[in-house]
Amino acid sequence: MTAREIRLGSNVFAVGAIDWDRRLFDELIPLPDGTTYNSYIIKGKDKTALIDTVDPTKAKDLIGNLKALKVDRIDYVISDHAEQDHSGSIPRILELYPTAKVVTNQKCKEMLIEHLLVAEDRFITVADRETISLGDKKLEFIFAPWIHWPETMFTYLREDKVLFTCDFLGSHLATSDLFAVDRRKVYGSAKRYYAEIMMPFRTNIKSNLEKIDGLKIEIIATSHGPIYDNPSFMIGAYKEWISDEVKNEVVIPYVSMHGSTRAMIDRFIDVLIGKGMSVKPFDLPRTDLGELAMSLVDAATIVIGTPTVLTGPHPAAVYAAFLANALRPKTRYVSIIGSFGWGGKMPETIKGLIPNLKAELIDPVIIKGYPKAGDLLKIDTLAEMIYNKHQADPMVKKGA
Ligand code: FEO
Repeated sequence: MTAREIRLGSNVFAVGAIDWDRRLFDELIPLPDGTTYNSYIIKGKDKTALIDTVDPTKAKDLIGNLKALKVDRIDYVISDHAEQDHSGSIPRILELYPTAKVVTNQKCKEMLIEHLLVAEDRFITVADRETISLGDKKLEFIFAPWIHWPETMFTYLREDKVLFTCDFLGSHLATSDLFAVDRRKVYGSAKRYYAEIMMPFRTNIKSNLEKIDGLKIEIIATSHGPIYDNPSFMIGAYKEWISDEVKNEVVIPYVSMHGSTRAMIDRFIDVLIGKGMSVKPFDLPRTDLGELAMSLVDAATIVIGTPTVLTGPHPAAVYAAFLANALRPKTRYVSIIGSFGWGGKMPETIKGLIPNLKAELIDPVIIKGYPKAGDLLKIDTLAEMIYNKHQADPMVKKGA
């Protein structure tokens, strides 16, 4: 990424890197659109600060941008988050700028020492709401723990009304756009990012959003994806995602080996659609799990479909249940549709995998062999029950 001033005359420059080709994060999270590691240089009258760095695989890009801007001195390297995609190039920067100090909170300092072997004497530790001066500009540090690590914080540049939020409100989206101009695309990428990374911390996000409510913010500069010159666009989206309201929608992650479970899922989908409900089926062995995670953000109900394999659920269904449990969506109802050949404890195993879902369990429909007419009527009843629950539940937005 070429270094670019984020607003004319601000002396705040984006100096990070675009990773067009990365397709997996943490060896787990699919990145269909790559990502960016955003880093910013702020040239004050007296001091210069670098806000976060980049993934170590892209250190060259960051260093190239600093050279292009003729940054011959960095006084402060602000570390808002210790995860290596933002902190991994700190050691290299400290080598290149031997008088630079890492400015961060105590917890983040401990992590940087632990994970990156940064020497203890290179740190300045700050408290919540403490400020440091760059001469004509001041940086304020706002602790925002657990989005999504315990040490996370924001940096606020009051003079320019810029809030640096690191992961928070970001998106895995490689783009040459410095700002979020393609809102539809950015919304989707940010929702995926929220689902995969932030959703388990919904409660903390609420309180951290409240912390920034009173700040005058014109630009939110995240560390992934394009930045926002209309902050209410993404803050509004987050407020919706973290609210307790859900959509009149049923997410159906399913797998079928010989067609029995599939026949029931097909019937289930048809009946729900006939009732005017929104349905999101995912054929698990062929599903992008990021898409599944996104669908969990605001659906009222999850129904897992699985046959019985070696007395338990199919491993693809186990993974989906594990994922849903880990991501802790605000789901209101959950059920299971499944089949078996000769026996097993499939439903019990699934139930045991989802203790974090604070959802009402609706009686599963588990049948032997291929579904007969009576079995399909049970599917109809399940769909009817879910429909009625949604209708009666004030937290389910109707018409969605
Ligand atoms: Fe983008 Fe939590 O690191």
